[in-house]
Amino acid sequence: MQQLTAIVTGASEGLGKSFAIELARRNIDLMLVALPGSGLQELASFIRKNFQIKVYHLETDLTCTDSYHEIFDCLNGQQIKAHLLINNAGLGNWSWFGDKSMAFYKTQIELNVITPVLLTRMFLAQADSFVTSYILNVGSLGGLFVVPKKQVYGATKSFIRYFTKCLQLELYGSNVKLSLLSPGGINTKPELLVMNNNLKGISKATILEPEQVARIAIDGLLKGKREIIPGMVNRLLVLLNSLLPAYVKDSIIKRRLNTILDS
Ligand SMILES: NC(=O)c1ccc[n+]([C@@H]2O[C@H](COP(=O)([O-])OP(=O)(O)OC[C@H]3O[C@@H](n4cnc5c(N)ncnc54)[C@H](OP(=O)(O)O)[C@@H]3O)[C@@H](O)[C@H]2O)c1
Repeated sequence: MQQLTAIVTGASEGLGKSFAIELARRNIDLMLVALPGSGLQELASFIRKNFQIKVYHLETDLTCTDSYHEIFDCLNGQQIKAHLLINNAGLGNWSWFGDKSMAFYKTQIELNVITPVLLTRMFLAQADSFVTSYILNVGSLGGLFVVPKKQVYGATKSFIRYFTKCLQLELYGSNVKLSLLSPGGINTKPELLVMNNNLKGISKATILEPEQVARIAIDGLLKGKREIIPGMVNRLLVLLNSLLPAYVKDSIIKRRLNTILDS
């Protein structure tokens, strides 16, 4: 059987790190990408020591177009074709629109939108049509629900949703499997863990650990699932969203906005 290689963006921490370990467990070689000085080298060494796979890593800023070429040049140099692309790197926030700088939104749109689109374009151009290739685009339930304080982030994830669903139609019948991952909250960082621990009831039940999300996502990707929504409560919320009339959803969101304004 052919040895597979996966590119994982934003692999140094959070969900990306969990993806790297989950793929290593499945004996898939890795090309890990994250910003310089993010501990990527240590992660690559840890995986090499603990799993019998090849691990390449590249510290680069994915908001620069040159970085896409660096990734594929590095693989080409080793005569390796990538078979999986995990478009994971993303920049989130929870803030009023006026509270973040113009530079922040520019970076957020570049990393969350431009990077996955152009990496997908380059990945498909090098894909071996005789071997099944897999692309996982990390979206968010935030791309489906309108949530105050997630204005630009939610819009970037709506973009990813549309892009992935459209490309799935274009690639139908080909040797490329493309999945959209739509997670709810994930405990990827200490500050999120603290925030999520304060949640109650159904909101708390939507939160998952990164290792769980990575396992469910890679299972779904390899099975060719078109959309992967980890967690029963999250799947229920998506179903409710499709059933509820728009005016009911608007009133729930307005009430949520009032709670945020009062807090
Ligand atoms: N956490 C959640 O609740 C949640 C929910 C739904 C969806 N998601 C999505 O899941 C994905 C991962 O989220 P996360 O919470 O794991 O994020 P995270 O902990 O902030 O990790 C982001 C990763 O991306 C890397 N990165 C950031 N900017 C980069 C750049 N310009 N160039 C290269 N790498 C860069 C980071 O490297 P450094 O370590 O160097 O910064 C890090 O490895 C994102 O797409 C996010 O939108 C997250």
